[in-house]
Amino acid sequence: MASQTKLDLKVFKRLIFFVKSYRKILIFSLLCTLTLSALTPLRPMIIGSMVNDYIIDSQNGSALLNWTLILLGLLLFEGLFQFLNAYFSNLLAQSVIRDIRKRLFKHLVSFRMKYFDKTPIGNLVTRLVSDIEAISEVFSSGLIDILGDLLMLIVVIALMFFTNWHLSLMVLLPIPLLLIATRIFAKAMRRAFQQERLQVTRLNTFVQEHISGMSIVQLFNREKKEYAAFKEINHGHKQAQINAVWAFSIFFPVVEILSSLSIALMLVWGGFQFLGDNQPDAGKMYKEIFEFTLWINMLFRPIRQLADKFNILQRGVVRAERVFEILDMNEDVQEQGKITSIDFNQSIHFKDVSFAYIDEDWVLKNLNLSIEKGKMVAFVGATGAGKTSIVNLLGRFYEYQKGQILLGETDIQELELAYLRKNIAIVLQDVFLFSGTILNNITLSDPDISREEVIIASKAVGAHDFIMRLPGGYDYEVGERGGVLSVGQRQLLAFIRAYVYNPHILILDEATSSVDNETETLIQHATAKLTKGRTSIVIAHRLSTIQKADNIIVLERGEIVEMGSHADLIEKDGYYRKLYDIQFAEK
Ligand SMILES: Nc1ncnc2c1ncn2[C@@H]1O[C@H](COP(=O)(O)OP(=O)(O)O)[C@@H](O)[C@H]1O
Ligand SMILES: [Mg+2]
Repeated sequence: MASQTKLDLKVFKRLIFFVKSYRKILIFSLLCTLTLSALTPLRPMIIGSMVNDYIIDSQNGSALLNWTLILLGLLLFEGLFQFLNAYFSNLLAQSVIRDIRKRLFKHLVSFRMKYFDKTPIGNLVTRLVSDIEAISEVFSSGLIDILGDLLMLIVVIALMFFTNWHLSLMVLLPIPLLLIATRIFAKAMRRAFQQERLQVTRLNTFVQEHISGMSIVQLFNREKKEYAAFKEINHGHKQAQINAVWAFSIFFPVVEILSSLSIALMLVWGGFQFLGDNQPDAGKMYKEIFEFTLWINMLFRPIRQLADKFNILQRGVVRAERVFEILDMNEDVQEQGKITSIDFNQSIHFKDVSFAYIDEDWVLKNLNLSIEKGKMVAFVGATGAGKTSIVNLLGRFYEYQKGQILLGETDIQELELAYLRKNIAIVLQDVFLFSGTILNNITLSDPDISREEVIIASKAVGAHDFIMRLPGGYDYEVGERGGVLSVGQRQLLAFIRAYVYNPHILILDEATSSVDNETETLIQHATAKLTKGRTSIVIAHRLSTIQKADNIIVLERGEIVEMGSHADLIEKDGYYRKLYDIQFAEK
């Protein structure tokens, strides 16, 4: 990987654009920093003059005390400016990244499902959290500080030369060495940071995957093997951290030695002054030695930090580029559609619909079917037949490649997406729950839905009793990903959600056959209640749920193989009959 040493100015400019709304904070913060950088180098001059005037020349105790107090005041003043600078530059940084993060999230939720299929979750989490965090450092400790440090360097060097240019040249002798050391250090650090980031990602991914898949780890007795793998990753992580520490632990002593070298050179120079014929002015010399000692410190610190700060700046810009890449992605944003008013009480027609998730890998082939308004249509078929894919197309989570899906006469792609989804309720096979209360998971935190409405709905659906049995009832905190609730119970919550929203079209993708008998009865009851008099599409694994369906469609590998009522299909003695007999035999 080519290490970048140049700053990508285009990305940088774009980043700066985000500061626009916070121009005042930026200017204030800059003013604080620059004032500080200009004032701090003056302090040694005061100290130098105090030494010369009141200690060497005139031993004036009270004047010395007064000036000490003035100096103290100056220090307090510096402290205040440092505080203001730290506060406002961080305020700026956090405001900017809040805006970027909001934009990014808003953009992300407009993407097609296809994008999320191909993008690992960890990847997006990194963009939204740690990449954006790195961007904040551009503003909190990169950009403004670099300007401050540069100004301080200029002022210090100018004052040095103004005071005594011979001595300045002497003292600055080790600076080229410092620059070389800094360059080497910066390179080593960049390599170490890259390694470190790689290792942190490995560690994160491993932990995330193994906690998610803990049951499999335990089920297959993988504990020992996974532990060994974990140990290996941990070792890599430690090594990467140690490498970074190495670079630091060598660099800082080198800087110390070089700054001491500067001071040593200065003292040697002072000593030589006394060797010549005309003796120097001792007072002036002590004054200068005091001043230069302090200035040397002020010189080495910013130079040492500049490399670091530039790294931070560069890292932030690189990360910003990755964030902007996503912000610029438009091909994954869903087509919107314009119609916001249509009669949903119309039949739905699939006309020669073909669909593939990937390339030409057809999942649905030339599908022709109609779902009459107010009627219930059921889909059955083996796993992978394409049932859920039909739901995905109706909810426009994916776009089909061929044919048309019509609501009455209107192509559903012409409907505004939000409008379409407001009128269709979909209960998915695997209901995702957010961490929060049962209530919030039903209302999705919509304040327009009252607790009473939810309770009425869940009584109607028949889920009230099971919810009340949970500790805390509707206020029971559901863990991440639904935690302790079973698949069937989670589906019941989604049923309540659908009931409350009272949609025109209802789609149920029934949970797998692995629900217990009690939950099954509840789901059957809820299904009957929800589908009554409504255009409904039910995907059933248990045929008992759908015997009353107006039309049953049997799918096989994306094609319709049978269609008709329960009685028709039983009589036909085909695929459906076989499926029915198998399930009947189980009971
Ligand atoms: N997001 C996806 N990306 C790629 N292929 C998918 C995706 N979802 C489902 N498939 C594939 O599409 C086919 C139909 O899946 P699906 O509609 O979920 O079947 P069913 O619901 O009938 O079990 C399967 O072969 C499945 O592997
Ligand atoms: Mg499915």
